[in-house]
Amino acid sequence: MKYPIIAPSILSADFSILLEAGAQIGESGAEWTHLDVMDGVFVPPITFGAKMVEDLRPYNNTVFDVHLMTSRPEQQIETFSKAGADNITFHAEAVVHANKILGQIRDLGKKAGISIVPSTPVDSIKELLSFLDLVLIMTVNPGYGGQKLIDQCLEKVKTLVQIREEMGYNYLVSVDGGVNTHTAPLVRDAGADILVTGSTFFKAEDKKALISLLKGI
Ligand code: DX5
Ligand code: ZN
Repeated sequence: MKYPIIAPSILSADFSILLEAGAQIGESGAEWTHLDVMDGVFVPPITFGAKMVEDLRPYNNTVFDVHLMTSRPEQQIETFSKAGADNITFHAEAVVHANKILGQIRDLGKKAGISIVPSTPVDSIKELLSFLDLVLIMTVNPGYGGQKLIDQCLEKVKTLVQIREEMGYNYLVSVDGGVNTHTAPLVRDAGADILVTGSTFFKAEDKKALISLLKGI
């Protein structure tokens, strides 16, 4: 796999033609599809649940990267796993027993990820790093697409890349929020392996060209 991987987020698609959006992601050459699940509690908006993931699954063969912005992620893991999620990421801020939930995800044969919002430091997930397949750094406050990337959050990406090197860990580092053609070079320079892109992807007329630009090709 060549990094960075691009993960278009279905959040910015027109939900009345969601299946078309799924196909567009597949045709663009993006390797992952990012699926933002919001419950109206952890974040104000409500997006969709596992049924949507299941129904979208046949429309491309990318890795399905589920980002749970929900207050009780442990209750959703089995359902999303059955629906076709490949990666399941939940928020450190939403749970007490993160380690146990990561084990639940892994036991189902899925990749396990933790996400932190801009105000949460890397230190708070230090004890979990050896168990992780993915760390998703939010570079905007979660809930909405189309926001401006908060530059300081990229320091966390650098820290995570450094810790991975020093400790020999295996997680990938993903950046979510405000990624566009202007900010992508900064995100890549910080060392991100995955670039999530919502509004920029769905606004782009030439989606294949956008993917190349975001990858820095
Ligand atoms: C925000 C979501 C993001 C969002 C990114 O809460 O987690 O995945 O779709 O959208 P853009 O790329 O528009 O910032
Ligand atoms: Zn997301």
